[in-house]
Amino acid sequence: MKKRVAVLISGRGSNMMALIEAAKAQDYPAEIALVVSNRPEALGLARARAEGIATAVVDHMVFGKDRQAFERALDAELQKNRIALVCLAGFMRLLTPWFVNRWSGRMLNIHPALLPQFKGLDTHRRALAAGVKEHGATVHFVSVEMDDGPIIAQQAVPVLPGDTEASLAARVLEVEHRLYPQALRMVAAGQIRPA
Ligand code: GRF
Repeated sequence: MKKRVAVLISGRGSNMMALIEAAKAQDYPAEIALVVSNRPEALGLARARAEGIATAVVDHMVFGKDRQAFERALDAELQKNRIALVCLAGFMRLLTPWFVNRWSGRMLNIHPALLPQFKGLDTHRRALAAGVKEHGATVHFVSVEMDDGPIIAQQAVPVLPGDTEASLAARVLEVEHRLYPQALRMVAAGQIRPA
């Protein structure tokens, strides 16, 4: 039985598309059963619908400052769709310990840096400013601390002379699109578990 996966997005959803493409393979151990966005205008929603995938919007703005009310609505959507695993893919909301603990060991995130380096935003700009020779992407289980939690897969790219934020981001994004499907495959197949 394929594991039912929800992909949570806030924007264009290119990682979501990479997961959808990978999951089309017959031997892939997961199916993308649902895409949820916290932003009604996220471009990725239309792309998911065009693939025939169920979508939902849980708009965080509706809940004002009440993060838990937002997360309860999100959780209800996941339960309703009998979701087994959650993939955060450019999902730009910090999650509370309540939600993280509920999905502990069943929620993955992709981060555009070689964690534990460059947690948080603007990773490519910060990597260039730091003068690192290597940068990359990481897929990890989500834990209560942001961009923390057991690493599932990681891949480096070189930082090249003359790189701009855009050129470096594009090189990392290519890696992300390969890495996330590989990591989800391992988790869905039960080959890797959080420590
Ligand atoms: C990716 O670089 C991801 O690692 C980061 O946000 C970006 C989302 O891009 N967290 P997309 O929506 O998957 O195209």
